[in-house]
Amino acid sequence: MQKTILITGGAGFIGSHVVRLFVNKYPNYKIVNLDKLTYAGNLENLTDVANAPNYEFVKGDIIDVEFINSLFEKYKFDGVLHLAAESHVDRSISDPGAFINTNILGTVNLLNAARAIWQDNLGDKRFYHISTDEVYGSLGSEGFFTEETAYDPRSPYSASKASSDHLVRAYMHTYKLPVVLTNCSNNYGANQFPEKLIPLAINNIKNNKAIPIYGKGENIRDWLFVNDHANAIDLVFHKGKNGETYNIGGNNEWTNIDLIHKLCEIMDSKLGRKQGESAKLITFVKDRAGHDMRYAIDSSKIQKELGWKPSLQFEEGLEKTVDWYLENENWINNITSGKYAEYYDNQYNKR
Ligand code: NAD
Ligand code: DAU
Repeated sequence: MQKTILITGGAGFIGSHVVRLFVNKYPNYKIVNLDKLTYAGNLENLTDVANAPNYEFVKGDIIDVEFINSLFEKYKFDGVLHLAAESHVDRSISDPGAFINTNILGTVNLLNAARAIWQDNLGDKRFYHISTDEVYGSLGSEGFFTEETAYDPRSPYSASKASSDHLVRAYMHTYKLPVVLTNCSNNYGANQFPEKLIPLAINNIKNNKAIPIYGKGENIRDWLFVNDHANAIDLVFHKGKNGETYNIGGNNEWTNIDLIHKLCEIMDSKLGRKQGESAKLITFVKDRAGHDMRYAIDSSKIQKELGWKPSLQFEEGLEKTVDWYLENENWINNITSGKYAEYYDNQYNKR
């Protein structure tokens, strides 16, 4: 094998798409997927590559220092793509602790372990930290987040991600660790856990359940198809410059309410319902605490410097996503049995 690459959080939504891309595209890389398999981690996301000769899954927690150090000692990774995180804003509001532990302390453990094995030979090594546009805070109706926008995180989730971003950059300045970072906008696509807006709405519409819209539904997000994010990650890992940050986004802003109306139209036609039927499920509920108003990414740097651009129009991506969820009933049923009902009840019925 030419290189041994660690991907953390590879059993999650974005991580599983990145693992699949790397396993299939780089047969000369050994890909080690390290994941704790929290509620959000699911090995069913990776059944198609599970037996590939260049793939290995390791169950473990990035908070466990000894385990992480021994893993790096054993595999002597050439590169790290760090995606493992607690990722849902609503959960960070009801229980911030896990976000501080995994997103901040877990990241520091990985940085320390990489530093320890790379210190004598930083040459072609790379620590790639995958982050979010939420670190930049909330926009008004004008403007975009650029790589120079000052950090202004406003939820425990975004504050923990901002903290980890600062630590990654600090390790570069202080210890010359070869790092690269990206901050991406909202992803959607296959395998996203149905706590996030789009899969939650698809699942509820299918089951004729209320679609909960926070506040008035006027908040704006910039949506990107997950495979376009995975392609950007591949490009940055191989062609990005050490020490640089690249913003990734879809240039595709939607208010939540417009997005849900579009989704309802697609669902009506896929399910053979009369147009307008699914939209009757839209229900306005109590707003998210501290709800950021608008995110919008200026992705001109990665487009100009690395030649990346999104491949799909939103409506095409949304339709593909709906098809995937309708064709993968077992996947969604396995996830929504058990603990999910408890989460859903606390989040939507008791607040
Ligand atoms: P996800 O919640 O679907 O997956 C996270 C994965 O990390 C899961 O497989 C989980 O088991 C694993 N994990 C959690 N804690 C762990 C720990 N302590 N040790 C080891 N593994 C652990 O998240 P996602 O949406 O795929 O996001 C992946 C990354 O991309 C995160 O860092 C997130 O901040 C970032 N990001 C997400 C989006 C988005 O729209 N989803 C956008 C931009 C950036
Ligand atoms: O911007 C990137 C971020 O996008 C990632 O860093 C996060 O990991 C990811 O979860 C996502 O954060 P959001 O909070 O924007 O995503 P979510 O799907 O939770 O919500 C999208 C919008 O929809 C937001 O304005 C809140 C709203 N919403 C969400 C849910 C779950 C609702 O109106 N109702 C809901 O039930």
